[in-house]
Amino acid sequence: MSGYFSSSVGRKFFMALTGLFLVFFLLVHLIANLTLFFGADSFNATAEFMGTNPVIQVMQPLLALGFIAHIITGIILELKNNSSRPIKYTKNNVGANSTWMSRNMIITGLMIFAFLALHIINYFIPIKTTHVENHYELVVGLFKNPIYAGIYVLAFIFLGLHLMHGFQSSLTTTGIRQEKYQKCIKTLGTIYSLVVALGFISIAVWFHFA
Ligand code: HEM
Repeated sequence: MSGYFSSSVGRKFFMALTGLFLVFFLLVHLIANLTLFFGADSFNATAEFMGTNPVIQVMQPLLALGFIAHIITGIILELKNNSSRPIKYTKNNVGANSTWMSRNMIITGLMIFAFLALHIINYFIPIKTTHVENHYELVVGLFKNPIYAGIYVLAFIFLGLHLMHGFQSSLTTTGIRQEKYQKCIKTLGTIYSLVVALGFISIAVWFHFA
């Protein structure tokens, strides 16, 4: 088993599995946050449900582990790839053979990681350590600040770019390799990435100007 994870194929597979888990989390997180558009009562009820539901309480530590595992494995993969390729490829038309997104997963990934640290400080820690009466006020209040609204929108753009390659790569790595499904996976990945990125962006922009 440990041999499996120390091989590059094993690491890539593990990366894809944790990635798919995060793809699912993001969709649930987006749906929960979209209830902000229905007003304070609706969002506070969602926050209450998410904060007390036993299934969510079990999922939360798993989610944290999933994030950490995905980030650490990604950094190891990048370092290993670089060290096994000490002389950089001469740039022979890389753009034609791969996308910008696929070549820059480590950069977009590290940007999301930086956002996540800020995001946990903004919401998760205050909610867990102090008695926040009105979750809606806390969440919406942050977006009034143009610096936070700007940083969040930028992070969601990086997230969209990361998902644009990550979604299809995860599905291909974990098993769906047949040529006939590739086009379908690519389209699904593009739709998913746009919905998630634009969904989160709409929240930050709307509540900045509202
Ligand atoms: C407009 C966008 C977003 C809003 C308004 C938002 C809001 C929140 C809030 C209120 C919490 C605290 C929940 C609680 O513990 O009761 C939270 C937690 C969290 N958020 Fe976000 N979030 C947004 C986008 C994102 C994105 C894009 C990611 C990942 C890339 C993310 C990852 C997390 C994680 C990992 C937690 C901690 C675990 C959890 O409580 O579920 N969030 N978010």
